[in-house]
Amino acid sequence: MILCSNPKAQYLTHKDEIDFAVRRVLSGDQFVLGKNVREFEKEFSEYIGSRHSVSVGNGTDALCLVMRAMGLGPGDEVIAPSHTATATIAAITMAGAIPVFADVEPVHYTLDPLSVSQAITPKTKGIIVVHLYGQPADMDRIVEIARQNNLKLIEDCAQASGATYNNRRVGSIGDAGCFSFYPTKNLGALGDGGAIVTSDSFLADQVRRLRQYGWDENRVSQCAGYNSRLDELQAAVLRVKLKYLEADNAKRVSLAQKYKDELNQLSLEPVSLRAGCSHVYHLYVIGVERRDALVAYLKSRGIIAGIHYPVPVHLMPAYTLETSLESTLTNTNRIAKRVLSLPMYPELVESDQNQVVDALKEFLRP
Ligand SMILES: Cc1ncc(COP(=O)(O)O)c(C=O)c1O
Repeated sequence: MILCSNPKAQYLTHKDEIDFAVRRVLSGDQFVLGKNVREFEKEFSEYIGSRHSVSVGNGTDALCLVMRAMGLGPGDEVIAPSHTATATIAAITMAGAIPVFADVEPVHYTLDPLSVSQAITPKTKGIIVVHLYGQPADMDRIVEIARQNNLKLIEDCAQASGATYNNRRVGSIGDAGCFSFYPTKNLGALGDGGAIVTSDSFLADQVRRLRQYGWDENRVSQCAGYNSRLDELQAAVLRVKLKYLEADNAKRVSLAQKYKDELNQLSLEPVSLRAGCSHVYHLYVIGVERRDALVAYLKSRGIIAGIHYPVPVHLMPAYTLETSLESTLTNTNRIAKRVLSLPMYPELVESDQNQVVDALKEFLRP
């Protein structure tokens, strides 16, 4: 069986170091928000190039807490793509704000700046831009829109740890960046985890309070908070994995290059690359006709393809706010029927990737 992502393989690659780090935590006496968490936060903010990093329980909480820290809440509209992980939108409603859906660009599949401009109303207070599949969105234009309209700009970097836009790491460009360390992510823990990065010291302090009941240093709640903390085991694992993130991302890039070279004669569309960016290929996504038949064919050959995402969030019963959106989210609706994610993880071996390529050629060759 060739999986779409494979966090177990990643663990086995670094098993000795991870096991050692885990044993050290177990022989210590602090299990939540301890030394490993502090060290990881320092190392991660240095890696991203932001002044602060505050770890939390998961990526959804990272988005929710940063919105709360920015003062976004009831009555405020936050613009986000519908073509994203449900978590992006769930976080907006968790913060009490109102999600407003914008379309994505037809070939890069990331937030379309024009659609964002059209979605702005007097109630708009923020934008969440998602660096989808590991590729940065059009930040120059989105930063400009946020600045002109006095909107908070949050980068959802859950899928893009290490990606760069004009030589800056994603997460360091907007007001804050939010990361997920879910096991399949490019930087994945062995459980849940997340972080907010920002160079705004006030914002970092606010998030630090919110993650623990709104407590100040005297354990007095100064605002109504949450419980969303990273534990020492996950932080210790993340410290090991962070050292290998660049090398792992480079492996993903070379696997992607091989897919691109091998599949370029077939009738499929790979996601286009944005100039001036590095894509870190959390997912290798193609657009194809007869997508569902292809998924079934691959499965019959022992290959598990993913679909990110089959139902745009604006069409999910929980988040359907306006049916009129159907006409404005044209690219979103088209893409949802065509996208397919091929196996992609640093440990994917050549013979397995060849099998994937061969199966695609058999199915798609005219
Ligand atoms: C784009 C995006 N945003 C947010 C999240 C939420 O992360 P988590 O699963 O850690 O809550 C994810 C991951 O599922 C994601 O892919």
